[in-house]
Amino acid sequence: MAKPLFISEEERTDGFTHVVLILSGSVASIKAPLIVSELLTYDKVKVEVVATNASLTFFSVADIENAGARVWKDEDEWLSTYKIGDPILHIELRRWADIVLVAPCSANTLSKIAHGLCDNLATSLLRALAPTTPTYLFPAMNTLMYEHPLTNEHLRVVKEVIGYTVIGPIGKTLACGDVGLGAMTEWKDIVQLVADQFSLVRINRRTSTT
Ligand SMILES: Cc1cc2nc3c(=O)[nH]c(=O)nc-3n(C[C@H](O)[C@H](O)[C@H](O)COP(=O)(O)O)c2cc1C
Repeated sequence: MAKPLFISEEERTDGFTHVVLILSGSVASIKAPLIVSELLTYDKVKVEVVATNASLTFFSVADIENAGARVWKDEDEWLSTYKIGDPILHIELRRWADIVLVAPCSANTLSKIAHGLCDNLATSLLRALAPTTPTYLFPAMNTLMYEHPLTNEHLRVVKEVIGYTVIGPIGKTLACGDVGLGAMTEWKDIVQLVADQFSLVRINRRTSTT
């Protein structure tokens, strides 16, 4: 069944913090349901998730929906019959967002952002985003992908040219078995960053497991 249209001014609520969580095709997308449910332990927070096609391998959409957020995919962007004046999903989501987290940011999505590509919902949203919207990238990739000279250059561009904040990666044993830098920042630290930035107050204390 098709999702109802997303219209920013109908979906925004005064006094709430509106978080867009972008997931890309890194194993760390497995943490997405934990990030969403932890964010929603804070008062006056709404979360919308944007998933690249590759990211959909790593989590269950139902888990995110059960945690309290919707998952928007590329296919949701393309209505079968578009008329002038119809809402355009990537524009509505960027109007809605108070903060955008790309967590995890794959090497591919990082490269696309650095080059200005906007060939899916996630990168179209980022390309259309107001520069005043705080945007955080959390790279997550194999150590050699991270140490590749192009990654360094892409990170430089997103920080210095676009103005995004890049956090991580951290070092540990990666999902592929390699040990080294490349893991996404701990999901609890990602949530804490949002909580600190918007002075969020917790509504109920859940015990989360990693
Ligand atoms: C099992 C599996 C795990 C992967 N893990 C990562 C990863 O952690 N980081 C990464 O940058 N790419 C990883 N990739 C490769 C990306 O999924 C691939 O480059 C993809 O095109 C990314 O698309 P996206 O950036 O649109 O999500 C993985 C691929 C597979 C099959």
